[in-house]
Amino acid sequence: MIIKKFRKICGLVAIAGLSAITTFPAMSATDAEIEANIDRLLSQMTLDEKVGQLNQLSGTGYSDGMIRDIRAGKIGSILNEVDAETVNKLQREAMENTRLHIPIIFSRDVIHGFKTIFPIPIGQAATWRPEMVEQGSRISAREASSVGVRWTFSPMVDIARDARWGRVAEGYGEDPYLTSVMGVAAVRGYQGDDLSQPGTMAACTKHFCGYGASEGGRDYNTTWLPRPLLRDVYLPPFEACAKAGSATFMCSFNDINGVPSSANKFLFRDVLRGEWGWNGMVVSDWNSIGEMINHGVAADKHDAADLAAHAGIDMDMQAYCYIDELKQLVSDGKVSIEIVDEMVRNVLRLKYRLGLFDHPYVDTTLPSQMYLPESLEAALHTAEESAVLLTNNGVLPLGDKKVKVLLTGPMADAHHDQNGTWSFDMEKDKTITPLDAFKKTFGKNLTYVPGLTYSRQKDLSGVDAAVEAAAKADVIIFLAGEEAVLSGEAHCRADISLPGAQTEMLRRLKATGKPIVTVVMAGRPITLPEESKLSDAIIFMFHPGTMGGPALANILTGKVNPSGHLPISFPRMVGQVPIYYSVKNTGRPTTEMMLIDEIPHEAGQTSTGCTTFWLDAGLDPLYCFGYGLSYTTFEYSAPRLSAEEMTTDGEVTVSCDVTNTGKVEGADVAQLYVRDVVASLARPIKQLKGFEKITLAPGETRTVTFTLPASMLSFYDLDDKSVIEPGDFQIWVDNSSACRGKAATLRVVEK
Ligand code: GLC
Repeated sequence: MIIKKFRKICGLVAIAGLSAITTFPAMSATDAEIEANIDRLLSQMTLDEKVGQLNQLSGTGYSDGMIRDIRAGKIGSILNEVDAETVNKLQREAMENTRLHIPIIFSRDVIHGFKTIFPIPIGQAATWRPEMVEQGSRISAREASSVGVRWTFSPMVDIARDARWGRVAEGYGEDPYLTSVMGVAAVRGYQGDDLSQPGTMAACTKHFCGYGASEGGRDYNTTWLPRPLLRDVYLPPFEACAKAGSATFMCSFNDINGVPSSANKFLFRDVLRGEWGWNGMVVSDWNSIGEMINHGVAADKHDAADLAAHAGIDMDMQAYCYIDELKQLVSDGKVSIEIVDEMVRNVLRLKYRLGLFDHPYVDTTLPSQMYLPESLEAALHTAEESAVLLTNNGVLPLGDKKVKVLLTGPMADAHHDQNGTWSFDMEKDKTITPLDAFKKTFGKNLTYVPGLTYSRQKDLSGVDAAVEAAAKADVIIFLAGEEAVLSGEAHCRADISLPGAQTEMLRRLKATGKPIVTVVMAGRPITLPEESKLSDAIIFMFHPGTMGGPALANILTGKVNPSGHLPISFPRMVGQVPIYYSVKNTGRPTTEMMLIDEIPHEAGQTSTGCTTFWLDAGLDPLYCFGYGLSYTTFEYSAPRLSAEEMTTDGEVTVSCDVTNTGKVEGADVAQLYVRDVVASLARPIKQLKGFEKITLAPGETRTVTFTLPASMLSFYDLDDKSVIEPGDFQIWVDNSSACRGKAATLRVVEK
């Protein structure tokens, strides 16, 4: 429950850091007052007015159609209007030209920035800094709410273990713990501690649930999720965001085991509201209610509306199912008025909590909140810390020595594509590309020859000029990657290598004999088996947004020491997908592998060993979850436990000494992993249960300490019960999921 502290009228209270925004008198109401207001309003509403609140339409402009629908009380929310004057004109129609003057809530997909664009969410996860995610969301809310957007469809906390899926770009990666931490940070950033204050937006945790398990990494596809997997992997980030107070949830497009989420009572009534006690508002995804006809579980819109209302979907996004069918369903007795009233309550509660009844309009007299210096600085630092150094043979950092740099490749000056997917409101001329930044950093020592002008280009005719230019350069910076359109919704790839002729271009650059730093800007993990051999260093930047160029320049020169760590495994080849670190051990774990080119001709059937791996890809990804290099090095001591034993209701602390063994200051991510060695179900060989990013001076040692309650060792059994089973657990602390070094053993005993 969102407990709102009643705040006395005490004049304007500046919200720290939200300069130039006037705050409303602290009139945010308590839950009790909000419920009383809802009761009073609901008692006055006709069925038509109730159904109108459950309808969300997308549209821009002060159109006759929109005005007509608003005045008829047919619209509860408008999606995609981002002009402040138009928002106010449409809102005035609701406040002055309807019987009950119920404000509209305006919404938009503000996923990783509104005008100031931050790295795409999976890039934000690569910072392993929840405070950066919170700050970026706070800034996004400040910018978007200043034009009237008070509801964003973010954070997306779908676990993604299949990089073919385009929407891997929009989440926080493969791990439930990391995703939970980042999702909660985003909710806090968007909502602040008082949703009724300006500069805030209602968060929308999505897509509930299991969307990332779409079969084959093909968007919208079916999922098959046995209950223990759903419970242990896909639900936890949603539970974390629900308990963090996410004001809304959005259902997913997919079916789980044949049940479309828009009709999934178990998810919305049993789990979300029943088990988790959440009392927010649920919106469908775009036409997802209507799409149940395509799924083949609804014969028509009438059926679909019936299923969705019973499942607990409160608002219908753009399917016209509720607005066209719900009244008839009620009069036919198929949907009770009590269900409809509950849906309307959830919508009205959101609007009261946002303070829209008291402050429905945007103050257009305020100075612009866009691209404030502190916003751009935050975007720069987030982009810097999201960059992952994958390989480096010593070519980096370039230092401030006057190196002659050849900048080349399709992502070197990609003002649009650098922002990645879901950056609707981005203004490309505000993007600072590597070319823009390098002109300042390297001056006359910079030569720029694109070679390829976009990532899918197959025509190599421009590459000769780049090869020629390389002759005069000391180092080549090859900006490779994906255009923004190649990831995100509906943009899945069956081959996740560099598109177009980029690899061939890299081969030709390699032939020049000059050192090559390959920088990849993409929306997903890219397979880089050959590129990792051809390059002297590789930096991976998940589409870094507005400040990607300066961030890269600072990293290449060494002004910033890279500290990003992967939030998702990078496969060697797409055939390894789905690939993730927290795998089961199987009955045939691999201790040694004979790979395809090592097998003697006419080798006997069992001569290669019978254990679990791919002959042509081995077992492990090219770069594992949690991995990231630095310009310095770090050493980890063996983990120390505060006790060797703990009861099933106890907790221990795990400590580890981390030392910077190199010559420059750097940040590293200490990660805590555990393994349940023997349990009633086969358990993953390791699971992330904590992390801390620490900055150490050369030679400095610091002890990191994690608290590990027994409750974090629980899992769901086949009876759908959460259990903590006594037994031995292995504990590691390392800076990646490789979990090198000796594990500590913790024994859990019955209390
Ligand atoms: C899209 C997406 C969802 C988004 C919504 C509104 O189809 O699935 O994530 O928030 O529609 O744009």
